[in-house]
Amino acid sequence: MSARQDDSMDPDDIGVNSSTEPTIGELIEHRLGRRNALFGMAGLGLASAFAAPAEAQPTGPSSLTFKELAHTLDPTHHVAEGYDLQVLIRWGDPVMPGAPPFDPARLTAADQEKLFGYNNDYLGLYPLPAGTRSGGRFLMAVNHEYTNPELMFAGLGGGRSAAMQASKEQVAVEMASVGGAVIEIARDRGAWKVVPDSRHARRITATTPMEVSGPAAGHDALKTSADPAGRRVLGTFGNCAGGSTPWGTWLTCEENFNLYFGGDPAKMGDPALARRYGIGRAVNAWSRHVDRFDVDKEPNEPNRFGWVVEIDPYEPGMPPVKRTALGRFKHEGCTYALAKDGRVVLYSGDDERFEYVYRFVSAKPWNPVDRAANRNLLDEGTLSVARFGADGKVEWLPLVQGQGPLTAENGFATQGDVLVKTRMAADLLKPTPMDRPEDIETNPVNGRVYVVLTNNGLRKPDQVDKANPRPTNDHGHILEISPKDGDHAAAEGTWSIFLLAGKPGQDAGARYHRATSDNGWLSCPDNIAFDSKGRIWIVTDGAPSAAGVADGVYGADTTGFGRALTRCFYQAPVGAEVCGPVFTPDDSTLFLAIQHPGEDRGSSYEKPSTRWPDFKDGMPPRPSIVAITKKGGGTIGA
Ligand code: FEO
Ligand code: CA
Ligand code: CA
Repeated sequence: MSARQDDSMDPDDIGVNSSTEPTIGELIEHRLGRRNALFGMAGLGLASAFAAPAEAQPTGPSSLTFKELAHTLDPTHHVAEGYDLQVLIRWGDPVMPGAPPFDPARLTAADQEKLFGYNNDYLGLYPLPAGTRSGGRFLMAVNHEYTNPELMFAGLGGGRSAAMQASKEQVAVEMASVGGAVIEIARDRGAWKVVPDSRHARRITATTPMEVSGPAAGHDALKTSADPAGRRVLGTFGNCAGGSTPWGTWLTCEENFNLYFGGDPAKMGDPALARRYGIGRAVNAWSRHVDRFDVDKEPNEPNRFGWVVEIDPYEPGMPPVKRTALGRFKHEGCTYALAKDGRVVLYSGDDERFEYVYRFVSAKPWNPVDRAANRNLLDEGTLSVARFGADGKVEWLPLVQGQGPLTAENGFATQGDVLVKTRMAADLLKPTPMDRPEDIETNPVNGRVYVVLTNNGLRKPDQVDKANPRPTNDHGHILEISPKDGDHAAAEGTWSIFLLAGKPGQDAGARYHRATSDNGWLSCPDNIAFDSKGRIWIVTDGAPSAAGVADGVYGADTTGFGRALTRCFYQAPVGAEVCGPVFTPDDSTLFLAIQHPGEDRGSSYEKPSTRWPDFKDGMPPRPSIVAITKKGGGTIGA
């Protein structure tokens, strides 16, 4: 979800660890201070939109060979010379067999359930046939994070009030357009196509029945009038980044779930819990039309969100499962590495200012020869939270009931309590409050773990520490963790800073490779991917649009002479962030999820700041998945 927000929407950017909570005035001031000069972009017209951006010269030390793009911002997207861009699927394109044609002016919830959803984020590739290293046919799992009602529906106007005014029918469409999708894709003479009527095709929505498993299943705080057992939830939403497992399932993460609930959180069973998770700050109309999103009517419903949901893309009949052992917070993503003994290690960030970095280690190793044996592997294990020491050491502090302060006297009588109240349990262990942890991924070549911290404009000078070294960190940074002895299950490791984002020479403390060009600097790193050479590809959410910089994709070496020499490879259309970067195993295609094109101040269905990717009168902008390939084929970045 967008980090650089205007007054109309800012779900990612509202929340803050209440232990350091600013006033509402500070929040509004911060939000209005960024990215508010944009809507004039529509006036640029398409002639300039389609003009190729100027190119900068390649620099020496990098292993990347493409000619860098020059920073720019306009209604369409751009990629470095020598590469092709293809739109694979857009909001409203068919997913399920029998899907109706897309007509945004007459969209119903029943139609939307069969069509590709809104605001695509995480993308996962699962080879077909399963278990092969196929290069040409995959199931693609897609998260659909949230909605922009002002761009989806006619007559609502622009801004935050638009979302609040959505009708009951429009809210039903919104609920059908979030969650996720499974599509089958195949390469056909160099071009990627969605395979129609795939037997694997699936839409997951805010009403899809799903199971709850692990230590918090059946917890009193999860029981509702519709589900007195606390074990069966309807739907998932706020599905931001994600991950996969070694056995080929999809982990979709519930991030900004709190913003869907209205009512008075003070009347909830545990007001302190509601406060710590920011419940009751609804930014849409769901709670006006659907009782379970009103905490006055269904006080425990928010506790059923904020989890990681495991879905088997190969088995469309299997219900999604909320894996409570992985904890409850605003999970940005959930990516795996393997411990030396074969246990599965999952890294996850809690994306809010001053929140924490987490790690889960399964109790047992995974079974590479019996897929079914891994079905409930993620229900048992140890969740830990990270403390980044000034001495360059990172410690993983276990969140285990009965250990240290996690006792009944402190409100943690069971492991279920620890998990439902993960943030409060973590607070007691004194982990390091971070600058909004987004993606955390392991480099497959050097084994280091990269922690992407997108920004934190609220960090004050007396709150800086070695791992979050800048006050008013508007541009973010990336940390690099080396697990002790290369073992991801080790209780500790070391950390260092990979880069500090922002414009060198302008933004205090910005630090990259010294040869980084005027176009190579970036702001607000969010998701990352590694190619098979171990190079990092960073996508951004919050580029300084007022300075004419689009969100984009930046590649860099992680080792050698070109380490941290970021180079601009792709730029998104106005209003959009880039999400979900994923390479095919042969590095010949990079898929990107282009989220919320046209999300700008004053932008509306009738007058959007862009009509990307269709550029047709009457057709609003459409979040879409893009495939990037090299002209004539070959390795991206070479
Ligand atoms: Fe949905 Fe943390 O971005
Ligand atoms: Ca973000
Ligand atoms: Ca994100």
